[in-house]
Amino acid sequence: MTFTKALLSLCCAGFLFASNSYATAPPKPQQQAIYSQMSIHQPIWAEHAMVATQEALATQIGVDILKQGGNAVDAAVAVGYALAVTLPRAGNLGGGGFMLVYLAEEQRAIAIDYREKAPAKATKNMYLDKNGHVQKQLSRDHGLAIGTPGTVMGLELAREKYGTLSRKRLLAPAIKLAASGFIVSAEFANSLNKAKPRLSRWPSSKEIFFKKDGSSYQAGERFIQKALAASLTRISELGTDGFYRGFTASQIEKSVRQAGGFISQTDLQNYQAIQRLPITGSYRGYKVISMPPPSSGGIHIVQMLNMLENYPLAELGQNSAQSIHLMVESMRRAYADRSLYLGDSDFVNVPVKALTDKKYAQDLIKEIDLNKASASNKVSPGKLAPYESNQTTHFSIMDKWGNAVSNTYTLNFSYGSGLVAQGTGILLNNEMDDFSAKPGEPNGYGLIGGEANAVAANKRPLSSMSPTILLKNNRPYLVTGTPGGSRIISTTLQIILNVVDYKMNIAQASAAVRIHHQWLPDYIRVERGLSADTIRLLEAKGHKIKVQSVMGSTQTIMKNEQGFYGASDPRSPSALSKGY
Ligand code: GLY
Repeated sequence: MTFTKALLSLCCAGFLFASNSYATAPPKPQQQAIYSQMSIHQPIWAEHAMVATQEALATQIGVDILKQGGNAVDAAVAVGYALAVTLPRAGNLGGGGFMLVYLAEEQRAIAIDYREKAPAKATKNMYLDKNGHVQKQLSRDHGLAIGTPGTVMGLELAREKYGTLSRKRLLAPAIKLAASGFIVSAEFANSLNKAKPRLSRWPSSKEIFFKKDGSSYQAGERFIQKALAASLTRISELGTDGFYRGFTASQIEKSVRQAGGFISQTDLQNYQAIQRLPITGSYRGYKVISMPPPSSGGIHIVQMLNMLENYPLAELGQNSAQSIHLMVESMRRAYADRSLYLGDSDFVNVPVKALTDKKYAQDLIKEIDLNKASASNKVSPGKLAPYESNQTTHFSIMDKWGNAVSNTYTLNFSYGSGLVAQGTGILLNNEMDDFSAKPGEPNGYGLIGGEANAVAANKRPLSSMSPTILLKNNRPYLVTGTPGGSRIISTTLQIILNVVDYKMNIAQASAAVRIHHQWLPDYIRVERGLSADTIRLLEAKGHKIKVQSVMGSTQTIMKNEQGFYGASDPRSPSALSKGY
C-alpha cells in the first residue's frame, strides 16, 4: 500500500491522533492528514505560526513575540538574543552565523551573513610553528582563535530591515532571563561539566559558569548572568554601538589581548553583516534555497540533490543499503569539491554556478558504481567547467503572514574558545579554527580545506552552516537546519530526502537514523539503530562503517494548507517546537 493510500484509509476509518504532550491544541478533523498511523513520531501542529529551537525557554519567547504581533524576523531576533542566555554553549553574542529570511509579500529570500571575520592583523601562517607544523591549540584554545564577532550586527541588521518591533522589546525577554536567571536543565548541567576544563582555564569564565567554591551547577538550580544582562542592556539602549563600541568593545579587546590574540576595537567598529543572494536549486519540483559562501552548505546541498535526483530513492527505500550507498557517493564527491573550491567569496572566486549545475552532477554520477564504493583517495575534487562542534544551534520560525526565518549561529566549539570577555558575560568564539590553518590539513571537524580557505586579514572562515528553506508552489513548505560541524550539510540533506523522497512527516524525518560521509576520512559514520543487515550489505559494497555518537539537532517547520507543523530533534532533550 502506498503512503497516500494508507493515509486515506486511516482518515476514512476515522483515525484519531493521539495527542502529543507538546501540542498546544489537538488538530481539527480536517487537519489530521499529516498525522498517520504509519509514523512512530508525530509533529506539533499549530494554526497560525510555529517556532522550533534547541531550547524551550527561547522557543516560548519566540511564540510570545509572534502572538504580540511580531513577524518571523522579530521572533528570530528575540530568540537569537534569548539563546545567548539559555544555551550559552552555542547561542551567542560573541560568535556569528547565517540567517535566511523569506519575505512572503515580496516573494523573495535574503541571506544575511554575520559570520565572524579574521582580525586585520591575521596572516596566512599565524597557526604554524617555525617548522611549518599546525599549532592546533592556537586556533582553538587561545586568543588567536577568536574571530571578530558578527551576531549582534546580524540580528540588528535583520531587525532594522525586516522586523517590525523595537529593539528594546525584542531584547527585554533575554535581559530578564539573564538578570533573574533560569532553572538549570540536566542537559545544560551536563554540557557545563563536559566543558569544565576548557572554561575553568579562564578566571572570567570560571566565575560565571561555576559556583564560588568551584563546584558545578546541578539540574534544578538557578543560573544567573548579571554581567550578560548588563551587556544585553547596553545593546538594548545603544544598538550595535552597545557591543561594537564603548565598554563591551574595549573589554573584548583587552581580554583577547591578554589571551594572546589581537582583535582591536577598530576590528569591532569595522565589522559589517552582509546581505547576500541565497543559493538556489531545485529538487523533484521543489525550489531549494540555502546559504551561499562563506558557507559551503547551500552549494553542496544543491550539488548532492542534483546527483541524487537521478536515482529512484523512494523505490529503493529510506536507509536501505542501496539508498545509503548513493547518498554516500554523492557526499564523497561534494565534500571533495568543498576541500578545493570553497572559501570566502569576497576573497576568492567560488564557482557557485558550476558546482550547482545539474549538468555537472550528471558528470559526477558517471563515476558512481551502483555496486561498489569508490575509494576517496581516487576521488579528487571534480573538474569544473570554467567558472566565473557540534555546537552550533539552529532555529526555524514561520509567521501567520507566510514569512520564514531559518537561522544557524555558533561559537564553533561548545562554549567557543571558553573565554568570557572580562566583565561582560560574553563568551567569545574560536571560529578561526574553521580556516585551513595549513591548506590540505584537516580542521577541528576533520574537514580538509584548500588555499581558498587559507587565513587572511578580514576574511571570513568557511562554514558548513546550512539554514535552508524549500518552496512548494512558490511558498515556503519546509524550513530546516541543524548544528553539527561538518555533519550539518549531510544532516540537512537527509531531512530533505526523508520528506521529499520518503514521504515522512517532519517528526519522523527528524528522528530517522542519520549517516554521514565527508570524503576523508573514508568511512561512513552512522548512528546506532541502522540495521546490522544494512551495515553488512554496505560493507559488501566496500564501505567502511563506524557507529558513532548522534549527529545534529534539526529544528524543522512544515507548512501546508492545514497549518504549521513543528519538529524539534529528539536528540536534544531541551529542544521544543511550539506554535499558536
Ligand atoms: N563552526 C562550524 C561551522 O561554521 O560550520
